[in-house]
Amino acid sequence: MELFLAILILACLYSSVSPDQQGDALFALKSSLNASNDQLSDWNQNQVNPCTWSKITCDDNSNVLMVSLSNMGFTGTLTPRLGVLVHLNTLSLQGNGITGKIPEALGNLTSLTMLDLEKNSLSGEIPASLGNLKKLQFLFLSQNNLSGTIPESLSGLPNLINLQLALNDLTGKVPDSLFQVPKYNFSENHLNCGLNFSRRCVSDSEGSPSKSKTGLVIGIVGGFLGIILLGGLMLFFWRGRHKGYKREIYVDVPGEVDRRIPFGQLRRFAWRELQLATDNFSEKNVLGQGGFGKVYKGVLSDSTKVAVKRLTDYESPGGDAAFQREVEMISVAVHRNLLRLIGFCTTPTERLLVYPYMQNLSVAYRLRELKPGESVLIWPTRKRVALGTARGLEYLHEHCNPKIIHRDVKAANVLLDEDFEAVVGDFGLAKLVDVRKTNVTTQVRGTMGHIAPEYLSTGKSSEKTDVFGYGITLLEIVTGQRAIDFSRLEEEDDVLLLDHVKKLQREKRLDAIVDRNLHKNYNMDEVEMMIQVALLCTQGSPEDRPAMSEVVRMLEGEGLAERWEEWQHVEVTRRQEYERLQRRFDWGEDSIYNQDAVELSGGR
Ligand SMILES: *[C@@H]1O[C@H](CO)[C@@H](O)[C@H](O)[C@H]1NC(C)=O
Ligand SMILES: *[C@@H]1O[C@H](CO)[C@@H](O)[C@H](O)[C@H]1NC(C)=O
Ligand SMILES: *[C@@H]1O[C@H](CO)[C@@H](O)[C@H](O)[C@H]1NC(C)=O
Ligand SMILES: *[C@@H]1O[C@H](CO)[C@@H](O)[C@H](O)[C@H]1NC(C)=O
Ligand SMILES: *[C@@H]1O[C@H](CO)[C@@H](O)[C@H](O)[C@H]1NC(C)=O
Repeated sequence: MELFLAILILACLYSSVSPDQQGDALFALKSSLNASNDQLSDWNQNQVNPCTWSKITCDDNSNVLMVSLSNMGFTGTLTPRLGVLVHLNTLSLQGNGITGKIPEALGNLTSLTMLDLEKNSLSGEIPASLGNLKKLQFLFLSQNNLSGTIPESLSGLPNLINLQLALNDLTGKVPDSLFQVPKYNFSENHLNCGLNFSRRCVSDSEGSPSKSKTGLVIGIVGGFLGIILLGGLMLFFWRGRHKGYKREIYVDVPGEVDRRIPFGQLRRFAWRELQLATDNFSEKNVLGQGGFGKVYKGVLSDSTKVAVKRLTDYESPGGDAAFQREVEMISVAVHRNLLRLIGFCTTPTERLLVYPYMQNLSVAYRLRELKPGESVLIWPTRKRVALGTARGLEYLHEHCNPKIIHRDVKAANVLLDEDFEAVVGDFGLAKLVDVRKTNVTTQVRGTMGHIAPEYLSTGKSSEKTDVFGYGITLLEIVTGQRAIDFSRLEEEDDVLLLDHVKKLQREKRLDAIVDRNLHKNYNMDEVEMMIQVALLCTQGSPEDRPAMSEVVRMLEGEGLAERWEEWQHVEVTRRQEYERLQRRFDWGEDSIYNQDAVELSGGR
């Protein structure tokens, strides 16, 4: 017991010492950047750790994960003491006037996935130590004054997917393997690519031509006609049952608060501002419609592109304050694979949320609703999207406090940014609009074919209902098909995608599962792995489904084999029982479940 206490005390001591070091390093950064008195004024060196400071994000153990100091007008230099922030995954200092060299010590930050120093005045060479950042996916150094050659060590970055070095003073040879990075730009240097060389300085971009990283896009792209129709019917039905329910009438209210109050890092928008941005909520700017309301494309006065979500059906007894609390909670979820909330707007009759605009719309769009000339998602991108989505959900479930359950995981809610990185949207909204009767079973929200059976029958959601939705989303990614498709009936096939895939899987016809639009350009082992993970995630009983962190590990190739073994065993027994019953009733358990799915879910 005493030993235990001693360990506990030591652990406490240790944990209060190590974050302090992080605080010191960040404070040193503030000084080296030559921050003025009114910049980062809440960075107080006397606090236990820097996790409450603005622009800083930590994990549960007070390790600093993100430092985001873009476009703040800093002119100083970067301190080498940054090297102690070994848990950092995102360092963003874009768009300042930072001078001096990139410190060698950044090579210490082995957890970094994103290093963004674009648009500064950094000089000197790119340190070879950056080759140690094995997790790095995004390296943005363009528009600086960097000289010398590109270090050979950068060839050893296995996860690099976007390398931007344009507009510097770099010379010599680009290491060959860097031309394999999916997206790169070496132009406007003195490198061996371009006109007089056989290699191009800029990678071919995937899909539609994109204008570098300015435009961000959201797309909640409406589903297929049947679902909309049914959804409309369901909504009608649901409304009918709620006769006493007061409808919100949308009117422009004079005298609403027309000022911006900084609210954490959230911006409070004036109604007028969003009205102007969306051309008075013009129908032509509608990006999509979900159960929570319409989403409009908009452009703010500083020409930032945004997506504005206009909530319907909300009713918060706590009024503005309750709404703001919820909104603030959503805004705390900051992760590369989650759609960041920029701000919100409230009037006596309206609630609006403002998000960045996701340039490549949604996965559902990229799978099924492409316009002529747009290219379909290639297999490696699908794999990356699957993993990114899993990571985003893992963060919501396991790193947010209180945890956030999405309740409507589907391909249409997985958006794609300019690098085709998965960005999960629409999380946290269920609580915003469902605060009415917290004790009573809340309305089941979700999308047909994606709703976990226990959620349908009990109305209780948990992380495991999200895992189910994720499993179905994986199937969408592999097959390109919808979770429910009545047209499959014509081929005497299953309406539910899950049943359809299970059948083909039983018949060992995996090749028939894969999206035909891939034209056989995929890796069969990887397809098999994804299908296995999907089937594990969609098991009938929630306890059997893996947690999202396990899903992430399985997708990274760990621990899938054992779980799959187990699944097959259970599934074979279940199947035999099912066939025995079906012979008796000629009516399968899955079909009963289909009926529920059709009747109970609202349209999204
Ligand atoms: C620091 O900022 C002050 C004004 O805020 C400026 O006069 C000074 O030159 C800056 N120093 C550096 C090293 O940029
Ligand atoms: C690099 O990280 C180690 C811990 O992993 C730390 O002890 C060391 O001080 C760091 N180096 C620099 C230059 O910050
Ligand atoms: C860029 O660096 C060179 C020396 O490498 C220097 O002569 C030049 O003035 C710098 N340009 C800018 C815009 O800082
Ligand atoms: C390419 O080569 C031609 C002559 O072969 C030369 O005139 C031109 O300046 C070169 N362009 C570049 C960008 O080096
Ligand atoms: C590459 O960089 C140059 C210079 O900044 C820019 O003009 C060009 O648009 C970039 N190309 C792509 C595809 O990002």
